[in-house]
This record gives sequence, structure tokens and C-alpha cells, in this order.
Amino acid sequence: MAPTVLMVSEKPSIAASIASILSSGKAIARRSYLDVHEFNGNFRGMTTHFKVTSVIGHVFSVDFPPKYQNWETTDPQDLFQAPIVKLESNPKAHVCKHLQQEARGSDYLILWLDCDREGENICFEVIDSTVGVMRKVSGQQVFRARFSAISDKDIFHAMANLVEPNRNEALAVDARQEIDLKVGVAFTRFQTRYFQGKYGNLDSSVISYGPCQTPTLGFCVERHLQITMFKPESFWTLHPHLLKGGHQLQLTWERNRVFDHDVATMFHRLVSPSGSFKVKSVSVKEERKVHPSGLNTVNMLKVASSALGMGPHYAMQIAERLYTQGFISYPRTESTAYPKSFDVRGILLTQQSHPLWGEYARSLLSIGVHVPKGGVDMGDHPPITPMRMATEADLSSTDAWRLYQYVTQHFLGSVSPDCKYSRTKVEFTASGENFSCTGCSVLNPGFTTIMPWLSVSEENLPSFTPGEVVQVAEIVLYQGKTSPPDYLTESELISLMEKHGIGTDASIPVHINNICERNYAQVQAGRRLVPTTLGVTLVRGYQTIDIDLCLPDIRSFIEQQITLIAKGQAEHSHVVSHVLQEFMGKYLYFVRQIEHMDSLFEAQFSPLAESGKMLSKCGKCGRYMKYISMRPSRLYCSACEEVYGLPQNGNIKLYKELTCPLDGFELVLVTFSGPDGKSYPLCPYCYNNPPFETVEGTVLDHGPGKSDKGSKAGGGMPCIWCPHPTCRHSMVKQGVCACPECPGTLILDPVSGPKWRLDCNMCNCLIYLPQNAHRISTTDEICTECGSTILEVDFNKISTPLGDGATLHRACVLCDDLLHSLIEMKYGKSFSRRSGRGRGRLRGRGRGRGRGRGRGARGKIEDPKMSFRDF
Ligand SMILES: *[C@@H]1O[C@H](CO)[C@@H](O)[C@H](O)[C@H]1NC(C)=O
Repeated sequence: MAPTVLMVSEKPSIAASIASILSSGKAIARRSYLDVHEFNGNFRGMTTHFKVTSVIGHVFSVDFPPKYQNWETTDPQDLFQAPIVKLESNPKAHVCKHLQQEARGSDYLILWLDCDREGENICFEVIDSTVGVMRKVSGQQVFRARFSAISDKDIFHAMANLVEPNRNEALAVDARQEIDLKVGVAFTRFQTRYFQGKYGNLDSSVISYGPCQTPTLGFCVERHLQITMFKPESFWTLHPHLLKGGHQLQLTWERNRVFDHDVATMFHRLVSPSGSFKVKSVSVKEERKVHPSGLNTVNMLKVASSALGMGPHYAMQIAERLYTQGFISYPRTESTAYPKSFDVRGILLTQQSHPLWGEYARSLLSIGVHVPKGGVDMGDHPPITPMRMATEADLSSTDAWRLYQYVTQHFLGSVSPDCKYSRTKVEFTASGENFSCTGCSVLNPGFTTIMPWLSVSEENLPSFTPGEVVQVAEIVLYQGKTSPPDYLTESELISLMEKHGIGTDASIPVHINNICERNYAQVQAGRRLVPTTLGVTLVRGYQTIDIDLCLPDIRSFIEQQITLIAKGQAEHSHVVSHVLQEFMGKYLYFVRQIEHMDSLFEAQFSPLAESGKMLSKCGKCGRYMKYISMRPSRLYCSACEEVYGLPQNGNIKLYKELTCPLDGFELVLVTFSGPDGKSYPLCPYCYNNPPFETVEGTVLDHGPGKSDKGSKAGGGMPCIWCPHPTCRHSMVKQGVCACPECPGTLILDPVSGPKWRLDCNMCNCLIYLPQNAHRISTTDEICTECGSTILEVDFNKISTPLGDGATLHRACVLCDDLLHSLIEMKYGKSFSRRSGRGRGRLRGRGRGRGRGRGRGARGKIEDPKMSFRDF
């Protein structure tokens, strides 16, 4: 029987391209969880069935086991030694299941993951998910394809030269993931809880620490401090203006500038009266500006930011799309040197009919090109080059075109001759002081023809002969002031990160993006990074407690250690335990010294007690609590000194002064904006301290109110999740029937009138009820047919669809033909009796999320309905 080879790439589009190249376009696509492209071909001399599919980036990500997820019960210190688990990164995409399904019955596995450390790590994720279910074969079963571009040449070459995946590189990624997770989460939880509990206007839902993120912020803050501490100084200089052959020319003083006014005036007097400047020498030199070496990621991102105005995160997304579409080679590379065998001619040939630079490419071909020398080969991928010709019309966006254009111009420039020019320097003397001027004339523009922004500017000088005395029109005593440096540009920040080994070419954009998203810095005019008060205060805090926490040195050290793992020169477990040990020491010291940081916060931010406005009553002390709308929004009882987290992104209002029967807290109503924004009530206390058991540590995800990953995770139980049997706001009372789309329950939105609706308490499915109803409410009756809650609809007198002018209608939304005909479903496929019969959730589709068994004294509820509702 013909063997089957399963091939896996990093993205669906790459799988499609690889399959198309290897099958000469004959592959047939089949849709499973992800696309699978099938064709027959030849593998190691055997007729073979090939299946090419993909993952979507990492299959797994590391996290702590549920036991460590709870911010309240876990001491962050314990995280350093906590076990970690690998969970599916995106369970909804069913990547694991997909891989196993395709692996079953396959004989060989070929890994086409991107060729970098992350890709190598994903190789092992794929191996772990597949090999166990594959057929057993003798000899090598798993192969690694190494390629740098999605081009016929690269793909065929890789296929003919299959190797083995590199476990050391994968382990290096494992080590970095574990270190970053543990260090980042421990510090972040500690400082978030500490500061969020004290200040009301931090304007960030998490006060995060990250081993890369924080030093990145450190660079921006350091520049900020240089700027704020800068004291301008006056300086003076001489600007002689010279007349020659109708030209006026300004000369440069050899002393450049002096910082003493008297001294400057002295020189001005010394030189002025004589007025005669003598030409001391004239020198002409031929110089060259060397063509650029190949383009690597960091340089591409720098140009994208400084010249194209694209942030690095965005530029990388565009570059990746250009790569997966086959327009450019792999955009993640550190190398700037082309390998000796690099086919420069071949690439020039692909560009020779381009409307903009085809002629230039042809001119290079006609003078004969070689692989340029220079640059550094880091042994990863060749520099970024164009692979296929494209015009603006071929590309999906203007920005894609602009980046492609730059990559191509840079490539053409890098294989072009140097720019040659002659530089003329004329030196003058007057009363013993030296002055000069320089001129420039381009002899051969070389690569600057295609990269005009790098061209040498022509500066024509009149001709001078040594010994000649020239006329001076005037000598200006110019006064200036030294100015502070400007804020760091993104491009400068990237250079600093690269120099200090903060992040990799792949992660640099992510770290920069993070400090902006967390509100520690903002990108301002000229793509300069200006730290916020929060960013500055944090870094100054680290500086006072342990400056290492925001300096790049430790990170550089960690990166070096990780590189040793990748090269097989250091043991994964040794590196990880050593680094974690060190950081735990720093953590403990930090916790002990936190007051030093706090005094800086105290000076910048307002205490919780002074923030926010009175909103709802506390069930413990009966006083009003303050609502703090600044992120993260929360309620604060200043009498009890307690903070209650709220769902983010929603509007919070008092809910008709109703109170929770369990704890006496006044309910608040959360409303999410947008045309389909849902609203639901919650009790501030229950929300943070669910009275009924939920799956240990799981943060309940209830649609748009879903709490920020990593934010204070106390959040959880709004009324639409509450199994209280008699409270009229609970899921039990307001729930109508099972959601047809997910295991959730459709709940009557109590304030949705006149556009009455049912919202799912888990997904975004919603059902619009009759629009001409005056009032709609749930009743205690259950439909005998399907088990749904019977609704009571009070139609408008004028528009009632009932006969005889009757307005009151009690019916089941699924089984009553009239009611069912008046509803409209959004974000769901079908809503019929079938989906509701027997109530899906009653059959246990709720998957044990918080079984209704009450826990503790507060939640002791022994109503038979509870298990019946399978909360
Ligand atoms: C001017 O240049 C000459 C050399 O060309 C040098 O000896 C002299 O010291 C310079 N004068 C001053 C004031 O620097």
C-alpha cells in the first residue's frame, strides 16, 4: 500500500503554497478544521500520498495549573517553583484534534514550520500531537524541511534535503517561555494588587512587569529623565560670510563653539578688524559611500518606522503577509550578508520588466553583478529580498506596496556599485584662527540612484588657490543654546534593544507594542516614544529598589544563556532553575522594599478614597461605595477599605436600588455599548466572591464583559450566572431556554425594552423578542413541551397581534407559534424547538461549570431545581 506523508506548515496560506509548488498546482484542497491539500507524488522512491496542512502558530502555550490561577489564594512567590502546563493556545480552532485526525494512518511526518527557534519549538508541539497516533515505520519517521522563502527553488531544495528537527532550539524556546511566564506573572500580580488597591487613577488594568517589556520601557524613561534634567547652556560661534565670484559662502570655525561670552567676543574682535582671510590649503579627495548590506528584520523595522511611518508591530504583520504570499523572502532574519551561492542574477531577472525599476535592474544585469561582500551572516536566513515582481495593483494594500517597494529598492541598492564623489576642503586662516568650507561633487551615484534618499548632496564651491586672500562680507557672532535630546524614536529604541539583546527580531515589535498598550508610553509625532506618568513612576520605582529590574543587563544575560541551550552548550533545566532562583531573590527583596516605590506613586496618583463618585451601597457597612471609572473600573468602599472588581469596558449604573438577597449589596447594571450591546445586573460582592462553586480557578467568560487576561481575576459571577432559586434576578428566574449555539442559557435582558431581547450568558447569541410589546417578563411556569420558561408578554393595545384587542399573552418562545413567529435571531444559525427541546443545558451541556451545589454557609442552597438546571 502506498505510504502517506503528512506535511505541516505554520499557517494555512503557507500550506496552500507548498502543496501547490510540490504538486505543480494539482493538489486538491479539502476542508477539515483547517485546510488539507492532497496529491500523489514520490517520496524516497515510493509512490506516495501527500497531505499538506498547517497549524496556526503555536499549538500550545504555557500556563500555571488552575490551582495557581487564583490571585487571592496564591502567593506570587510560589509561582517561581510552581509546575507549568502546556495548554492548547486556541482550543476553539481544534488544531490538536485536527493534527491527530490527519496523522492517523499517516506513515511519515514532514515539518514545514518556519525556520527559526519558534518554528523549531512548534515542530515538537506537532510531533507530540501526532507521532503517537501515526502508523509505526522502521527508520526515520519525522523530517524537517529547511527553507527561507516560499519559492519553487527553496521548496524543492528543502524537500530534497530533509533533515531532523533541532530539539535544542525548541528547548531554548521552552526555557524562555517558562522564565518569562513565572517572572512576569509573579511581579505583575504582586504589584498590580498592591497599587490597584491603593490608587484610583493609574489608568491601566494591570501593572505588569516583564523581563523584556520593562527594560524596553527603561530606555524610554531614561531618555525622558535626560530631557527633564537637561539645563540649556549658551554658546557662541563665529560665522564668517565670504564673497567670491558672486557666491556668498559661510565658513565653519575650527573651534566650533565656545561657552564663554567674553572669550567669544575676544575672538570676534581678533578676527573682524583684519577682515582678510587667506586660503591656507585646498584638498580634493575621492570618497565613496558604500552600498548597504542585505536587509535584516531589525533594519527593515527601523526604516518602516522612520521613513514609512509604520509601527514595528504593524510592519511585521505586513511583512509576514508579503512572505506568505510569496512576494518576499522570510522576513525574520538577523543576517545582513548574502550567502556565496545567492542567486542575485535570478532575482534581478524577475524584476527586469517592472514599470518603476525594471530599467535599473536591466542596467545592473548589463554591467554584470556579483554576490556583494560585507554584512554579517548569522547562519539563519538570507537577508530579506523580493521573490516575485509586484506592482501596486498586485498587492493588497498601499502599505504592503510601500514595504515591498522598500525591500526591493534596498535589495537593488545592496547589489549596486558604491556611490563615488569627490570632496573638496578649503582651509582659511585669519589672525591665527582656522576656518574651512567643503564642497561635494558626485562622480558616480551608484546605488543612490535607486535609493535617492541616501544620495550625497552636491555642494559647489568656487575655485580657490592656496595663498589667495579673499574678501569677507561680515563676521556674525552667533549665539545659540544647547538643546536637550529629543524623545527616543521607535527606530532608535529598536537599535538600543538590538544592541542590548532585549528580545529577538521576532519579539521586539511585541514588546514595544506592549508598553504602549499598557499605557506606559505613547507614540507621538515623528514616531517618538514618550513615557506616561505611570511608565516614569514605575521605572523610577525599580531604580530606587533594584535597578537591575529595569536595566537591560540581566535580560542580555538570560538571552545568552538561552542561546547556549539552543546550541546544545547548556542544559535547559540548569539554566531555567538558575535564572528563576536569581529572580526569586529579587522578587523577595522587591516585596520587602515596595514602600520606596509606593512613595513615588503617592506623589503622582490619588488614593482610592479620593477618586470616583458615589454609586451603590455596601452590604457590609451600609455606606455608599465609590465607582472608579478609570481602568480598571471597580467599586471601592472607603469605610471597609475593600475593592470590588467590575467587568471592564461596560457602563456601570445603579440598578433600581435593588439589593442582593445573599449579602445586601446594591446591584449594579452593566451595559455594553454598540447596537447589540447586552446588559445584565450584578452584585458587586457575588461578582468578586462567587457564592456558588465554579470550576476551580476558572475565570468565567461572559461575552463582552470578559475580564482582561491577567487583570485582577477576582471577577466572575454576575446575576445571569447565579443559581439562586428565588432571587428574581438570578439565572434561574430570568433564564428562558438553552442557547442554540453554545452550552449557555438565554436570559431575558430585564432593561432591554422596548427592543426586548434574550441574551446568551456565554456567547454573543441574542434573540429579539416581539418589538411591539409593552412589557415582557419571565414567569414561574415551565413549558410542558420543551421545559423552557414561559414568558408573559404584554402587547401594546394598538399593535397587539392578539384577537379581540387582548394584550396579555403567556406562552413558550419555542412552542407557541405566534410568539415564535415574532422573534428574530442574531449571531446564531437557527432557533427552533429542536434546539430547545428538553433544554440542552439540562442534559449537562453546561459541562460542570459551577455545579449548583452551594459552598460554605452563604451558598447553602438545597433546592432540587438547582441540579435540574445544571448550573
Ligand atoms: C591652525 O592650523 C594650524 C595647522 O594648519 C595649526 O598649527 C594651528 O595651531 C591652528 N590654529 C589654531 C588656533 O588652532
